[in-house]
Amino acid sequence: MVTETPSPGDDLPIARTIADLRAVVGAWRRQGLSIGFVPTMGALHDGHLALVTEALTQADRVVASVFVNPTQFAAHEDLGAYPRREARDAELLAGAGCHLLYAPSVEEMYPAGAVTRITVGDAATGGPSQTLEGAARPQMFGGVALVVTKLLNQVQPDVAVFGEKDWQQLAVIRRMVTDLDMPVQIVGVPTARDGHGLALSSRNGYLSEPDLEVARRLNGILAETAIKAAGGASIVAVEAEAASALLAAGFARIDYVAIRRPDLSPFENGRVDGPGRVLTAAVLGTTRLIDNMAV
Ligand code: PAF
Repeated sequence: MVTETPSPGDDLPIARTIADLRAVVGAWRRQGLSIGFVPTMGALHDGHLALVTEALTQADRVVASVFVNPTQFAAHEDLGAYPRREARDAELLAGAGCHLLYAPSVEEMYPAGAVTRITVGDAATGGPSQTLEGAARPQMFGGVALVVTKLLNQVQPDVAVFGEKDWQQLAVIRRMVTDLDMPVQIVGVPTARDGHGLALSSRNGYLSEPDLEVARRLNGILAETAIKAAGGASIVAVEAEAASALLAAGFARIDYVAIRRPDLSPFENGRVDGPGRVLTAAVLGTTRLIDNMAV
């Protein structure tokens, strides 16, 4: 059972079951307090802590979850190797002012017998899950939609905060929350970057020093691409130039460089004619980096 509400820096209470989570959140609700929620897969960095900071501006109490969600990893991906550092994560969350860590087991989240899946769009309906990351990692958005739905049902927050680094994930979640009439406000927070502009990611720890040097070129190439596209250049030409520049910088493979509207739909006339986003996924060694930027 978990009941404490810590001050920043204190040990953070941890709920490991839905029942314990609901007991704490229910007590806050009875006091009339609003709830903010930050879902994560742990191995926290300053980008995650910025989500907590944002949630604290939007709600009286903030719950963060740490759950490495197996349903969003394909069999060949890094589920087993994904960094797990719960004690450190709890310390960082407490320092950031978070009030409760929700860290369920896989069995708590996916009990035997559960068969329900969530699909946010398909080949017939289209939608933001059908392209880019959805094409490169077909299992990803179904797994994200399932766990985010379950987490939102479990926590029942007023506001849930996500990073814009996963721009397409945010678009899929916004679509799902709208389509399913889920009573929660979704807030996006701009990407946190290191001093060289590299988007912070729990997977950056996989990069060797030489790969890190290459990774740090990504942000500048995206920025140049955004400027060219905003200046009226052909989208197809600018995307191809960016992919060549990334390969020349040392990336081993480019899954995509794409300039889209914020909801991931294409610019029909081949040139940017309103707000847009340049998005990329590029591979270095065994590490796949994603990033995006406003156009
Ligand atoms: O962005 C992430 O860390 C994950 O995809 C999320 C939203 C926590 C779901 O597992």
